[in-house]
Amino acid sequence: MRENMFRGDYSYEYPDEQFIRYFSHIVRNNKIQTVLDLACGGGRHSLVMLENNLDVYGVDLEAGIKTVQERLGKSDFRTKLSNFKIGSLYNIPFEDKRFDLVVCWRAFHYGKKEDILKTLSEIKRVIKKNGIILMAVRSVESTDYTYNTQKELANELGTIIFADRPPIHFFEKNELRTLLLTNKFSIDVLEEYGFTDTGNGIKTRHQWIVVSGKLL
Ligand SMILES: C[S@@+](CC[C@H](N)C(=O)[O-])C[C@H]1O[C@@H](n2cnc3c(N)ncnc32)[C@H](O)[C@@H]1O
Repeated sequence: MRENMFRGDYSYEYPDEQFIRYFSHIVRNNKIQTVLDLACGGGRHSLVMLENNLDVYGVDLEAGIKTVQERLGKSDFRTKLSNFKIGSLYNIPFEDKRFDLVVCWRAFHYGKKEDILKTLSEIKRVIKKNGIILMAVRSVESTDYTYNTQKELANELGTIIFADRPPIHFFEKNELRTLLLTNKFSIDVLEEYGFTDTGNGIKTRHQWIVVSGKLL
């Protein structure tokens, strides 16, 4: 897959309220110290987690890490900049069993199904036993899936191949559940939420919020 085709949105300044809701619950009820913000974008959630005194590490493509450097560079957390590395969902530049929590907010769905299997196996590698994953993952309910006429190009149910950016795999609930369970993760939360980024209030972007624990 051509990862450099990605035109990321690194400009999000404020954390997603759903992220805050689940993150707060997780840190209140579990012993979390070391966190990976996988595909951290401009680092909006990394900053929140740093403010919570966690050891936060991040991975994103070059443009994302550049934005993190600009943003964190101006904050009290500038000494943590070396924790943020250019890397890939499919090849995470950290050692095995390192993290208590892996956050992958609005990024797990990048690629065809075979790419996403790599992402999951990388998360499984870097997370500790009993570690937790918190993700927001695109759902087949999204209008940009429902109304997309290019579905057949991918030859894979749920995946859309775009002309100018990497594929996205839109998940059905059961598909995501089965993927996690067969990879020995528990399902603690699997809820749908919709939001708009069109400014007209119509919820077009449906995602699955997942909280999942590594069992083995
Ligand atoms: C929708 S943004 C979400 C960013 C961040 N998690 C947030 O919530 O603000 C998706 C992010 O995934 C990153 N991304 C896309 N493909 C990637 C890949 N193959 N490896 C690493 N990061 C990737 C993009 O650069 C972008 O920062």
